[in-house]
Amino acid sequence: MTNNSKPLLLSGIQPSGNLMIANYIGAIRNWVDLQNQYNCYFMLADLHAITVTQEPQDLLKNCYDFIALYIACGINPDQNTIFVQSHVSGHAELAWLLNCYTQMGELNRMTQFKDKSQKHAKNINVGLYSYPVLMAADILLYNADLVPVGHDQKQHLELTRDIANRINNRHGELFTIPEPYIAKSGARIMSLQDPNSKMSKSDKNVNNYIGLLDDPKVIMKKFKKAVTDSGDTIRYEPETKPAISNLIEIRHCVTGESIADIEKNYEGKMYGHLKIDLAEAVIEFLQPVQERFNQLRQDNTELNIILKRGQEEANKRAETILNKMRQTIGFIPNIKNVCL
Ligand code: TRP
Repeated sequence: MTNNSKPLLLSGIQPSGNLMIANYIGAIRNWVDLQNQYNCYFMLADLHAITVTQEPQDLLKNCYDFIALYIACGINPDQNTIFVQSHVSGHAELAWLLNCYTQMGELNRMTQFKDKSQKHAKNINVGLYSYPVLMAADILLYNADLVPVGHDQKQHLELTRDIANRINNRHGELFTIPEPYIAKSGARIMSLQDPNSKMSKSDKNVNNYIGLLDDPKVIMKKFKKAVTDSGDTIRYEPETKPAISNLIEIRHCVTGESIADIEKNYEGKMYGHLKIDLAEAVIEFLQPVQERFNQLRQDNTELNIILKRGQEEANKRAETILNKMRQTIGFIPNIKNVCL
């Protein structure tokens, strides 16, 4: 199924909130572009999702929805390993081992922990704190070469590299040092109602984002309601025109038109024109995605087959690396593999 001579790419998204246009533009679109060049492992980060409170039924629905959307957006399940993090117990095990090679001082510096503990002040659990170590485990468990992430995850990737280097220095070359892949365009799609904060799938206000499963009417309404800047020219100037620049950026990412062409096409036109045209472009783009999604979600058989294959593939690779780590530490080798 996979080609092992290619470098390994691993990435994942947490199944919380609604998968939305910024996840497509900032993450899944790049996965689709990279899937031919790399041996790809696309993970559903469900263990990460429970660091904030989740309703079990919503979580289960989200897990299937997200996997179906990976595929509907163009990830080829015959060519890539698509799997669920909790289906490979090595993630949790390696996270423990890495915990013992990570300093509290390092975790204290993580800005996402600070942000999230403010946002979830009633549930600052230990998992939220050691989340970056679990993420390091996700990556090192497969000896990933390349890890596509958003800007907000750069610090976690730095930590992953530090932990890997530390273990390699102490015990010999065990882990590949992963490279981050941060896409140039579309990495910062902003909220439709507040262009100074990022578009987030966990936003309480659904008008802030366009869900990949939003109805065409809803998409039109959300774009029409999107805030704009003062003035009336349609120009890409993120500093002075953050709202309009964001709409231009979304259009650029969805249609592939250059920013300069978009500016030229909208010379002398009004903000409203840009909004309506953009809504139409997004609706057109999402129509086949939603169609494929609905097919996959009608009954989950096809998805379960894909996930089963993914689990087997991921587990096989993870076990090899975990065994080396266990041995390196000085544990008695797994007794079921010892000839007696
Ligand atoms: N923490 C990432 C995010 O919130 C998701 C994630 C978990 C991930 N494990 C990963 C991304 C491993 C890349 C590689 O976006």
